[in-house]
Amino acid sequence: MKKKRVLITGGSGLLATNWACAIRDTWNVTLATHQHLVKLNGTNSFQLTLDNLKLLEQQFDHLTPGLVVHTAGMTSVDGCEQSPESAMQVNAVIAKNIATVTANRNIPLVHISTDHLFDGERSFYTETSTTNPVNEYGRTKELAEKWVQRENPNALIVRTNFFCWGNQLRQSFSDWLIYSLREGKQLDLFDDVYFSPILADRLALIAHELVEKKVSGVYNLVGDERISKYDFAIKLCKEFELSTELVRRTQIVDADLQAKRPKDMSLDNTKAQKVTGRSIGTVAQFLSVLHNQELEGRRVELLEAIS
Ligand SMILES: NC(=O)c1ccc[n+]([C@@H]2O[C@H](COP(=O)([O-])OP(=O)(O)OC[C@H]3O[C@@H](n4cnc5c(N)ncnc54)[C@H](OP(=O)(O)O)[C@@H]3O)[C@@H](O)[C@H]2O)c1
Repeated sequence: MKKKRVLITGGSGLLATNWACAIRDTWNVTLATHQHLVKLNGTNSFQLTLDNLKLLEQQFDHLTPGLVVHTAGMTSVDGCEQSPESAMQVNAVIAKNIATVTANRNIPLVHISTDHLFDGERSFYTETSTTNPVNEYGRTKELAEKWVQRENPNALIVRTNFFCWGNQLRQSFSDWLIYSLREGKQLDLFDDVYFSPILADRLALIAHELVEKKVSGVYNLVGDERISKYDFAIKLCKEFELSTELVRRTQIVDADLQAKRPKDMSLDNTKAQKVTGRSIGTVAQFLSVLHNQELEGRRVELLEAIS
């Protein structure tokens, strides 16, 4: 049977490249690129003009995707604080364009949002919790959600926080820990900042499951656990047989950060669990898969994929 085409924006990014690896056996994957080229086995790429609606419409009519996953964004929290206008353009306006184009063509859309939408004063935010972002990144992603819902009410909006193998351009949180600790560097990790991370591959597969079930609206696709950054690093050390002695506890109140960050970003994944009928997974399970991915060549493959 002919594979359906999925178009993934932000094609050189952390999430897009891992998403592509997770589904390339069953989907015809086109990675939509911007400045950086991608050469990833079992996928193809296409330079897409996301900030010009007219051109984007034409490019969509040429590509005719059966599904769009919108991961492109300005993801540096400090960068967004420094350049709020660029953040607004990349995170919100481009998301609106993608929502308009997919809605006009009745193409299913997965829009990737964030766990950075809240003030972090409580734990396990649900899909109906009141948003109150504390920085420009969060504010532009919040606006993106509103515009995507307005333009394309059928879109699946995924709030998440993921880790995965990175590439030459970008390191994920787990890359930074692994590479630094393998080099013997001492690291300071916040024990008062919490999140609920998921492995990028698991995120991709569950999102596709939700698309199959034709669900729309906001879903928290995160792991089952709320964990501090420090405890995540300790679990990672155990899985990758790295020294925990290099990991030091620190607190965010003592840190000199440019942009304000929420202390608790944990999300409640009950809504997604009800649709899939099972739990999403624990940090230990995700780390074990991440380790196996390295043994099977994913880390090296992705390092060589971006230029
Ligand atoms: N990383 C996380 O832990 C995390 C957590 C929560 C939510 N998210 C969300 O998940 C999504 C993916 O994140 P990521 O970490 O994979 O991102 P990333 O690695 O920083 O990659 C961003 C991608 O966006 C593209 N891009 C940037 N500006 C663009 C523009 N003006 N036009 C078109 N493409 C543009 C980049 O292309 P070039 O390389 O060519 O510039 C790159 O491919 C984002 O929406 C982010 O907000 C990420």
